[in-house]
Amino acid sequence: MTDPFQDVDSTDSEFVAIVVAALESRAAEDHMIPIVEQYLDRLNWLDGATHIEVGAGTGPIARRMAARANSGRIIAIDPSEKLIVSARELADDLSNIEFEVGDGSALRFAAGSIDSVVMHTVLSHVPEPKILLIEAMRVLKAGGKLVICDADFEKSFLGNFEGDPLNACAKYFVQNFVTQPYLISNIRRIATSVGFKIDEFRVDSRTITDTDGGLGWIKMGTKQMVERGLIGEELADALASEYIRRKEDGVLYGHQPFGTLVATKPE
Ligand SMILES: C[S@@+](CC[C@H](N)C(=O)[O-])C[C@H]1O[C@@H](n2cnc3c(N)ncnc32)[C@H](O)[C@@H]1O
Repeated sequence: MTDPFQDVDSTDSEFVAIVVAALESRAAEDHMIPIVEQYLDRLNWLDGATHIEVGAGTGPIARRMAARANSGRIIAIDPSEKLIVSARELADDLSNIEFEVGDGSALRFAAGSIDSVVMHTVLSHVPEPKILLIEAMRVLKAGGKLVICDADFEKSFLGNFEGDPLNACAKYFVQNFVTQPYLISNIRRIATSVGFKIDEFRVDSRTITDTDGGLGWIKMGTKQMVERGLIGEELADALASEYIRRKEDGVLYGHQPFGTLVATKPE
């Protein structure tokens, strides 16, 4: 099965709307903001620098980068024209950020021209993460920084008991919407093999108790199950309602480790 995040533009408007809501709500979570700010602290926000985000989606991380960039600029790239349209609308009050359609495996930038490359939950959706890292290595200046932050999808969990149907949806999401569930287990080896020097590798906890963090997994997963004739619309709606009920009753529980690697292109 192909991970829909490899070609968002081939999906329908309902799916794109779910993705837009899921990306924006995840980036605003209390557990996610410090994960992002910690790695942004590790970048060099020099005047006039150029920082890129590869696989920016609707741009919530790129907008946080823009807030730090001083007189530098952010170029945020994504292969999905549909997501780039949303990203431009969401950032229309920011002057130091540009959004472009592009692929992380073939960037338009000259070798050694970029100060930082950020990839936030992108490599888990590509068939060959190493190709994007080779491209990041090419465009970075010597001493430039690479950040990879991604979910450890293999260890994601959403539920309160053995056989919980919400966790079945979370597992279905990982099986059908994620290409590299073991990315975080392997990311240091891949980055090192490309020539990066690892500055930091850490794993933080994304706890899902009072957010819509797992609702996107349920909505995307059950939408596909309905389309495949596996379940009916009533069950899809009921599973989303159950998620909201647990959130409102204060009993929702989900967990996802989030790994961050900060690395340097050697001088
Ligand atoms: C889960 S979203 C993450 C978006 C954003 N970084 C965030 O965290 O909110 C994954 C994104 O990777 C993009 N993507 C998929 N394949 C890509 C590739 N080869 N190069 C760059 N981006 C890619 C998708 O279009 C999608 O927007």
